[in-house]
Order: sequence, then structure tokens, then C-alpha cells
Amino acid sequence: MKTGKIKEFPAWPTYGHAECNALQEVLNSGQWGIGGTEVEKFEKTFAAYQGCRYSVAMTNGSVTLRNALIACGLEAGAEVIVPPYTFLTTATSVIEANGVPVFVDIDPDTYCLDSKKIEEAITPNTHAIIPVHLGGHPAAMDEIMEIARKHNLYVIEDSAHAHGAEYKGRRVGSLGDIGSFSFQSSKNLCCGEGGAIVTNNRQLAENCWSIHNCGRVINGAWYQHEHIGGNYRLSQFQAAILNEQIKKLDAETEKRQQNALYLDEKLSQIPGINPLVRQKTVTRHSYHLYIFRYDREHFNGVSRKTFLKALNTERVPASAGYAGLIYKQPLMLKKQFGPFSGWKLTNPGLDYSKTVCPVAEKAAEEEGCWFPHYVLLGSKEDMDDIVKIISKVYEQKEKLTEAEL
Ligand SMILES: Cc1ncc(COP(=O)(O)O)c(C=O)c1O
Repeated sequence: MKTGKIKEFPAWPTYGHAECNALQEVLNSGQWGIGGTEVEKFEKTFAAYQGCRYSVAMTNGSVTLRNALIACGLEAGAEVIVPPYTFLTTATSVIEANGVPVFVDIDPDTYCLDSKKIEEAITPNTHAIIPVHLGGHPAAMDEIMEIARKHNLYVIEDSAHAHGAEYKGRRVGSLGDIGSFSFQSSKNLCCGEGGAIVTNNRQLAENCWSIHNCGRVINGAWYQHEHIGGNYRLSQFQAAILNEQIKKLDAETEKRQQNALYLDEKLSQIPGINPLVRQKTVTRHSYHLYIFRYDREHFNGVSRKTFLKALNTERVPASAGYAGLIYKQPLMLKKQFGPFSGWKLTNPGLDYSKTVCPVAEKAAEEEGCWFPHYVLLGSKEDMDDIVKIISKVYEQKEKLTEAEL
């Protein structure tokens, strides 16, 4: 099925003279790692941007999660509640910190952790909750924080998708105990690879700083190592790029929001296309992903794969997203967690082949469809093209057979 050509969407990542000059300056300074000023400058800017007092920049948004858990005192075998519909390392960071991920299903409207299902998963062994602000939509933080305070649990917000997103006027990362961010190439704020934690808790910030800097302590001697830690430091080159990229983030976020709201309105008029529901608590959505639910019943029973293929043929970069849930990965089913994990001793009964999260399974295997955020940086005409193409695919659904693949 061909309905005509559509324009290319904006490329990602973007850069200009500012990034080139910033990189050149770091090169010339000779201070490419410790000793330079870009990392510290970024940490200050980013902490303030997310409404926090402290930030520690690290090598990526996976080690930020792992190190945040260790900073919160996670002990071997302790349980951490995570959603299954997220990137792998939301859960495997727990295993890397010697803990046990416990999966709790997602909300069908937002695909974020379902706060109503958290309490039944809490045991005396639970230490923390990691809500993911999926696609940039803040999770139900009031409910999550209430449960966490009641059960004395830490909350680490996985905000890898949610730079600048706000829940009831407050920036994500400032709502729980620690916020974790990724600056990997695909992210709304990026520098190739990178990450940062933010927090308002000085002790947690100092713990993270120590863990990311070989167990050193602030104002300690270079060869004075007081804790277990590694080298998870960001380079000055990466921070120099971030210091430029962050200047553009507000304007880009605004554009993504406008286009996403327009798509919500138009796409929801097409039978079988159900955009995720933006909750009233969300005062700013970062739209790292634009997600809608595909209902094959309205498309002559045609599978999501065939539907997406029809969109891709028209050069609409739609994908099935997290099609393979974490608890179904061979790693989890075979418990290939390495010899460093103490979980087997403390949790002999935990068997991920018995985990069932029906909403997440439906999202992953049947209905979840994603556009990457750079699609939302296109023009209104681009959005109209997307709507036209999906409408046309709907109108021609009888011709859309699996055999077309
Ligand atoms: C929700 C989520 N958490 C954590 C990460 C890990 O970030 P990084 O790729 O920087 O390690 C990602 C990356 O895609 C992510 O999407």
C-alpha cells in the first residue's frame, strides 16, 4: 500500500557551531577529564533545571540507576519494585547492585507503573521502588510516594525519558529520593553516552559522588578510598556538548508538546488508534516517545507488525517499541545473573517464568506503537501527513493482508 511520499523528519541529534566551539575549547584546554570545568558547570545547571540541589554526572543512565541503588543502601537480596515495560537496565541495574527486581504491572492508560498494584508486591525484603516516567509522562508520583513513605522505601525515579518533565508543576527527579537520567544519543538531551543523578538529599549526593569516583570522598586525598566505587565519571567533552544542548531543550520540549497534543486530537478520531492518556497531573510532558495503542479489531484483524510495516513503507518511523518484556528475556528466565549476585540464597522461590503482567504483555506484544521524539520536532504539515497516512491505512484495511509483508 502506497499513499504518496512524505517528507523526511528532522534528524537527531542536532548540533551547530556552538557544540563545535565548545569541543574545540575542551581540546585546547588540555583538561579532558578531571580538572576541567565543563562537568561541574553542567552538574550545577542540570540540578537547577530539574529542581534539585545536587547532581552527579556519570557515564550513562544505567550506572546512574545501579549507583543510586547502592547509594540508598541496597543490600544483597533486597527487593526493588520495577515495571517490566521499560528498557532492560531499569531492572538489571537492580541485579548489578546485588538486589532482586520484582515486576509490577503498568497502567493501561499511561504505560507507567500501576500504583494500585504496588502494595501487593511489597514484602519485608522490599527496599526501593523505581518508577519510570515512560516516554516522558511522569508516573503517578503522589500515590507512589505515599506508599513509599508508609513502607519506608526509597524511590528512584528513572527519568531517562523525562528531561524537564513536570508533575503538578514540579520537575521529575525532585519528587523521589534520587532521579536518574540518560544522555545517550537518542535522548531528548544527549551527548553520545552519559547520565546523571539528581537529588535534594546531601548524603545521597555524596554517596553517589563517592561511588562514581572510585570511593573517594569530597575534599579527600586522591589516593584515599573510603567506599567501594568505580570510575563512572563523565568526560569534559561530553559535558561541553550537554552545556550547549540544554540551552535548546525548553524550546524543543514546547514544540514536542504542541505537536503531540495535535496528534492526540487527530489520531484519536481514527478507530483503533488510541493515544496514551495524558494525566491531569502532568504539567509538562517531555515526549521522548509518542505512544499510541493499536487495536487490530478495528483494522480487519491485521497484526501490529503488518500495520507498522504499512506506516514504514510511507516512511513514517513508527516501531513496536519494547516488544520483548524484560521478565521474558533469556537472561531473566535462565537467571544468568553471574556469580556476584547473592539473590539465590535469599530468594530461592523467585522464578521469573511465573511473572505475569497482563497489561505490559498486551502493550509489548500487541498494541504499543511508538514514534521517536524527533518526529514531534517536525512541522504541523508533517503531523497532518502522519494523520493522513494512518487514516488511509485504516480506510484500506481490507487490502492490508499479512501476505503483504
Ligand atoms: C527507561 C530507561 N532507563 C534507563 C536507560 C539506560 O540509559 P543508558 O542507555 O544511558 O545507559 C534507558 C536507555 O535507553 C532507558 O530508556
